[in-house]
Amino acid sequence: MNLDTLKAFASDGGRSILDLFEQDVDRAQVFSTSTGDMLFDYSKTQIDADIRAALIRLCDEAGLADRRDAMFAGAKINETEERSVLHTALRNLDGGPVDVDGLDVMPGVLDTLQRMRVFAEEVRGGAVSGAGGSFTDVVNIGIGGSDLGPVMATHALAPYHDGPRLHYVSNVDGAHIADVLRQLDPTRTLVIVASKTFTTIETMTNARTARAWMVDGGGEPARQFAAVSSALDKTQAFGIPEQRVFGFADWVGGRYSVWGPVGLPVMIAVGSTAFDAFLRGGQAMDVHFCAADWSENMPVMLALTGVWHRQVLGYASRAVLPYDQRLLRLPAYFQQLEMESNGKSVAMDGSALTIPSGPVVWGEPGTNGQHAFYQLIHQGTDVIPCEFMVAAEGHEPELTHHHRLLLANCLAQSEALMRGRSLDEARQRMADKGLTGEECERQARHRVFAGNRPSTTLMYPKLTPFVLGQIIALYEHRVFVEGVLLGINSFDQWGVELGKELATSLGPIVDGAEGTETKDGSTAALVAYAMLHRET
Ligand code: F6P
Repeated sequence: MNLDTLKAFASDGGRSILDLFEQDVDRAQVFSTSTGDMLFDYSKTQIDADIRAALIRLCDEAGLADRRDAMFAGAKINETEERSVLHTALRNLDGGPVDVDGLDVMPGVLDTLQRMRVFAEEVRGGAVSGAGGSFTDVVNIGIGGSDLGPVMATHALAPYHDGPRLHYVSNVDGAHIADVLRQLDPTRTLVIVASKTFTTIETMTNARTARAWMVDGGGEPARQFAAVSSALDKTQAFGIPEQRVFGFADWVGGRYSVWGPVGLPVMIAVGSTAFDAFLRGGQAMDVHFCAADWSENMPVMLALTGVWHRQVLGYASRAVLPYDQRLLRLPAYFQQLEMESNGKSVAMDGSALTIPSGPVVWGEPGTNGQHAFYQLIHQGTDVIPCEFMVAAEGHEPELTHHHRLLLANCLAQSEALMRGRSLDEARQRMADKGLTGEECERQARHRVFAGNRPSTTLMYPKLTPFVLGQIIALYEHRVFVEGVLLGINSFDQWGVELGKELATSLGPIVDGAEGTETKDGSTAALVAYAMLHRET
């Protein structure tokens, strides 16, 4: 990405956003995009028409349209793993052909989807049951992309949840599985082991523990386990019957996999009709991404806003702030989606990246965050672009006053970030309280808000399955666009390998079977401490 033109605008990163609104009464309309139902407003940033034009030129210089079309067409754009990138095929409900190596993958995708629907409805209706009767609970065992998507969607779609209770176990920390299983009946619990590779140490350790718990408690793993994986030989070796295995191909990345069999627990929770609506929302965003001009294209403008803040202005992090309690796991989901995809320092051709990679992504639902970390967002020394999101209405008609307060808070935060409070205003406030002289000045300085801090707001009608699908696909494509502009491969994750290898080599050392001679002094001392202070 050649940022020379944009760097010339970098000084504009400090100019007054409020002035921009004064200069252009239509600014809110001009610097926002709509999909017809969702609205993305980026007018509370310093982006103006010239900056937007320069940002859009980056898309053309990077060959974004060709790259996008190549992805949807099944080309092997994941070049370091020689794989296609086709999570979009999982929501291609109309089934138009998508070829990989000359073969249409859609019949297989739709067949698996139909098997999922049948299984999910059988679990929900009790036709498929455990040793002790119909399933009251489902435990999904998975981690990373095999956990975060379904967890996030299960919370998000709580108003539609009318199936068995869902539980998620991800951490290899025994506390996680112990706390979940303790409350469950081993004869009426369905366990889904979700792992693309079916080798992930955390997942396989938890799966074996769950199987032993079930056997001990009178359950029958052969009828109470299901698997979601692309390694069918390994699911078979684990003893999961073929009809209980839902496969997907290697062209679905873990963090992009919630649309397919990894979404099975969500489908069991909300039913296949609601899950189809989720898929249709994702597909609607795909259609928009492929058709809209760049300046009207929501994923593209969300990405370009990100590039402006991160690569041009150098802001190191961005906060994702859903004013929607049911999106409480969305920031964690976006952390994997964005940071595992675009946390790279090598370009596709192997050269070192000369511009910053993707930012740190973090956040919490509002209004809780307001009473925790917003202090730093408003008055800290770093500028943190904030991405607000909020529904026009909630799911609780009897509690509309709650939703209106929520909305008011969301809007207040982006206004406060932009408007700030000047020293003069703060002085006046202190004077009104009766302070004078040096004390008035000292107290006033603590109450200044620099303001002019950028934010964007995504508004949607209501958090339905369809809208959730739109939001997730929006952010997937945003990550894709940013990756194309950075010239990196957003679809591998080699950066997680080293830690996994070292954990494997540390296993026997922590067990006491091997010494620490090969380890550095710090690691050896930490192992020694752990061995000294344990009783078992
Ligand atoms: O370690 C990272 C990772 O490979 C993620 O990309 C993936 O989502 C997660 O581990 C889980 O992998 P699997 O689904 O193969 O168990």
